[in-house]
Amino acid sequence: MSMLRFKPGMVVDQIEPLFLSCSEEDHTFDGPSRRMALDILQARNKTYQLQLFSGVEHGLALRGNMDDAYERYVKEQSLRGIVQWFDFWKWEIGNGRATAILLARKGAKVALVDYNVGWAQETKNLIDLDGGQSVVIQADTVETFGTVHILVNIVGFGGAMGDVTKLDLDAWDRDFKINVTSMVMMSRHVVPEVRKNGRGAIVNMSSVSGLLGGNPSLLYPTTKGAIIQMTRAMAAQHGPENIRVNCVCPGMVFTPMVRGRGMTDEMRQARINQNLLKQEGTGWDVGYAILFLCSKEAKWITGLIMPVDGGTTAGKADRPALKPDTLAEQVKGIPNKG
Ligand SMILES: NC(=O)c1ccc[n+]([C@@H]2O[C@H](COP(=O)([O-])OP(=O)(O)OC[C@H]3O[C@@H](n4cnc5c(N)ncnc54)[C@H](O)[C@@H]3O)[C@@H](O)[C@H]2O)c1
Repeated sequence: MSMLRFKPGMVVDQIEPLFLSCSEEDHTFDGPSRRMALDILQARNKTYQLQLFSGVEHGLALRGNMDDAYERYVKEQSLRGIVQWFDFWKWEIGNGRATAILLARKGAKVALVDYNVGWAQETKNLIDLDGGQSVVIQADTVETFGTVHILVNIVGFGGAMGDVTKLDLDAWDRDFKINVTSMVMMSRHVVPEVRKNGRGAIVNMSSVSGLLGGNPSLLYPTTKGAIIQMTRAMAAQHGPENIRVNCVCPGMVFTPMVRGRGMTDEMRQARINQNLLKQEGTGWDVGYAILFLCSKEAKWITGLIMPVDGGTTAGKADRPALKPDTLAEQVKGIPNKG
């Protein structure tokens, strides 16, 4: 979240009315929520009028005549929208859903292809709320939007557990198909369409588990490692056609799928502790990375394996420091400090 830099009395240009009532008497939202509202409004490039009152932290001035039915209606609708956004931001969000919303916000027409149509429908509702365009698809995407420029291969799951001596080989085959072959199949159908446009971007979803050892599973890190090499191979094969293929490797993000697998507070904290920032990542962090890789600003980037992990793969900060080495100090006479 960005820090607020508004000064008391500062008024931001207002084009369309957006009312938030947070005066002393009418604290619709608590302080952190009001700050979050401003962050959301700024992130969405919404114009709004803001005034800070002395004695009220981040108060937002309600501008408008509440006796006027229209102005009151706009206020109520604005509040409802913001409340929905609060709910939305408060809860965990899947990497796919966050990515779809961010792409739609940038004007992409998003085809939401998901095994769980109900979840995809909910993503569509959130995109609708944002004024974006999307469709829940079980059939042919090209038929609906005419063409495809971007493919984000997100589907993936923990799958079969157990080591080589224990795991069920049928489950292994099934899960390899879900995590890896599904990306090949999607790309197989999309690449010929993208070719017609002379440009395109594919992003494959791997994981830090594809980069590092130590995952308790065998299936998951193996499939995620395969996706990394698949990305590099695809980037080489399709680079000459101006189709960029990149890969993101999220660290441990709290998503509905993760929560659904039984997550205690201790486990959640242990996952957070693995990264250098000691902060929990979200689907939004992953989504913004994918958004960038799909954008024209990334037009010279292909074959990149991008960790989005709060520094998890950069190293650990828990190594005990040794005493300073004194040789250079003695020879040069410059004291070691720290
Ligand atoms: N959550 C993490 O910590 C984390 C970390 C690294 C990588 N990832 C990767 O991110 C991707 C999304 O995971 P998430 O945690 O955001 O999950 P999520 O909460 O978004 O749920 C997964 C989604 O995939 C859909 N899905 C599952 N199997 C499918 C299938 N066979 N066909 C079509 N749709 C299917 C589900 O319906 C659901 O909508 C996965 O590839 C996962 O491996 C997640």
